[in-house]
Formats: sequence, structure tokens, C-alpha cells
Amino acid sequence: MKTKQIADGIYMLSMNVEDILFEGIWSIANGVTLNSYIVKGEKTALVDGVIGWDGAVDTLYASLKEIDVDPSKIDYVIVNHMEPDHSGWIDNFKKINKDFKIICSPKAADLLDSFFGIKDNVTAVKDGATLDLGNGKILSFHLVPNVHWPDTMMTLDEESKTLMSCDMYGAFGKIEEHFFDDEMTDVEKDNFEEEGIRYFSNVMGTFAPQVGKAIEKTETLDVKIIAPGHGPIYRGNPQSIINDYKRYCSYRMGKGKNEISILWGSMYGMTERVVKEIREMLEKDGIKVNSLQMPYVDTSDMVSAIFRSAGVIIAAPTYEYKLFPPVAVALDEIGRKKISKKAAFCFGSYGWSGGAQKEIMELIEKYKLGWDFVEPVEFNGRASDEELQIIKDGVEKLIEKVKKIAE
Ligand code: FEO
Repeated sequence: MKTKQIADGIYMLSMNVEDILFEGIWSIANGVTLNSYIVKGEKTALVDGVIGWDGAVDTLYASLKEIDVDPSKIDYVIVNHMEPDHSGWIDNFKKINKDFKIICSPKAADLLDSFFGIKDNVTAVKDGATLDLGNGKILSFHLVPNVHWPDTMMTLDEESKTLMSCDMYGAFGKIEEHFFDDEMTDVEKDNFEEEGIRYFSNVMGTFAPQVGKAIEKTETLDVKIIAPGHGPIYRGNPQSIINDYKRYCSYRMGKGKNEISILWGSMYGMTERVVKEIREMLEKDGIKVNSLQMPYVDTSDMVSAIFRSAGVIIAAPTYEYKLFPPVAVALDEIGRKKISKKAAFCFGSYGWSGGAQKEIMELIEKYKLGWDFVEPVEFNGRASDEELQIIKDGVEKLIEKVKKIAE
């Protein structure tokens, strides 16, 4: 765990976590940071914590001692969000500190009881409430429900205008050395663009409308430093991550990069043969292609690629009268994440009956995704030259749609 001073009386404690599935679902091939913050006035507050594993909790306590904070003497724990990647340590903490008080939203107060049986010394705050720690350190609390759970709030140090934003403005990706945006190399910035989109699409995507409201709230607060619960701290240009989050919200609502993702599967190569031709055609046209062969591609990467692409091609055969199951599973996940209004085209092979294209449309309708489709194509067995040309014409139409919406 690394400790860094980020403003007068404010310290970050950051731990890299790897080799887990985030939320039990999402692979984090490049890790993720869990960031906690200490605010020192006359009283000391810890804003968010770490996951409840013994090693993580012990590391947090050791890091607190590095900045002369005795965990048993912390006065306040600010729970911005009850998801256990931030709150899991509290169960252990209450064994070593009998007197701390918790500040949280009313919804988090309910969850504290149900998760940890904590009812006493909990103050549930209203939006805009403040806490005076003494020595000029006043914290204010800003409720941002459904970012990402209904209980979430952000904490602002009124003096330095440091916003401890929890999941909001976060990213996947571990950090070894450069914790601040103004220290990062271009390679690191590119990495956090990718990891930020993957985090947003996997964890926050469903809640993009509420994220939009949290952005509006941030812009009323005159924030100078954004200090999230995951990922880098933005002190050089905090507006950059606000703008990135606006852009990510727009990707969820139909915008995207000038990329086309091909979500595909194939049993015996009939559909794969056409995918190969289409991929070459797109790449010759200078369009970045994300080839997502299911079930081989990781779900986190698949969701992220579809999310950031202005255009999507679904290429899959019919399997037992329905859509090839691994592609159906992927499309169902895309629906749960409400990735909406993409420009799209679909095609695939069938043996004795069609059915895949019908189920694609049913899934799009079920989740009310509102994708803008070019007319789908189904072919019997191996696509003929004429059918291949019809598919290529469909791809050309998709390219025209993508050009209009790509950033
Ligand atoms: Fe980082 Fe929703 O927890």
C-alpha cells in the first residue's frame, strides 16, 4: 500500500488488488487500486477503506501508522459507499476501535446494519450536510444515488476542494508509481483511458443516467482535486476526468469511437469464413475492428469493446432453432448493461432452419436497447457469392451509419 499527501491534511492510501474477479464477475487483468483517504483536523476522519481480507486490513493499518495515524484513535469513518471493496474492513476495525463514529447516507446506514449489524454511532446525513473536524477542516457530503449503489455519496474537503468521489471518476488498473494525472506518461494515460472505459462499462454502465446527474452535481462544487476510490488522482486537470465521464455516458447512449466490434461465434466455419472477409474489408477501410469470438473472449473485454464502439456486427449461426448460445449469453449481458442505440448489422449461417436473427431482435427488444439495424442476412450453409455481396453491402451501410455517430 502506498501513501501520498494530496493536499494540506489529506493523505491517500492506495492498495493494488489483482488475481480476483471484481464483484465476483469481472476479470481485472491489469489489477485495480483500492484508495482510502485520511483527513486530519483536530479530529481524524478516514474516508472509505478496503476489502475485508485480513492481509488488506493489516496493510491498511500499517500504512496509517506510516502517516502517524493510530487506527484505534480514528474519530470518524466516512462511508461513501457500502460495497465491500470499500467497507469490508469495518467488521475488523470495530474490534480495535470502540469509539469511532460513522458518517454515511441514509441508505448506507440501512446497509451497515444488514452487512455488519452496526446501528450505534451512525449519523445518516442529508445532501450538503457538513462535518467540522477542527483546524479549518470541514467536510461536506454530496449524495449521488445509484452511482453505483443507491447509497453512494461523495465527500468534499471544503478547504482544498478535494472531492473524494468513491466509485465516481474511478478506473480499473493498478498503479505502481504515478498516482497523479500530472505525473503520468502518455502510455499511462492511454492505459487509464482503456481501463477507465472497461471499469465504466462493467461496473457503472447500467447507471449512466445517474452518473450524468453526479457529473452535474460535481460541476456545482468548484472542485480542484478529484480523488476517486479506484485509479489515479486528478489534480492537474480535474476537468479531464469529468469530460471523460461525460464521454463514457454518451457511449452508453449510442455514441462511440470509430470502431466496429464483431461479436461472433461459429460451429463449423461457415459464419467464420464471412467474418474473416468482413474483417479484412473493414480494416482496408481504416476502421478499427474488435474481433470478439464467443465463448473465447473474456466477458469484461467483450462488454468494454461493444460499449466503446460506434458500430456492432453480430455474426452467429442458428443452433437448435435459436441463436448460437455463447453469442446469446454475450448479448444478454450487453442488454443487462443497457448498452443502447448502437448502429448494428447481423448475419449468420443456418443448417435446416433459421432462428438466430429472430432471437437477436428479441433480445434487443427485451432489453429495449433501440439499436439501429441494417437489414439482417441469414444464409443456408456456406454463403454463396451473391449472399456474400449482400452482406458486404450491409457492412457498407453500417459504415455510413457509424461515420455519423463516431466521435
Ligand atoms: Fe468500488 Fe461500487 O464499489
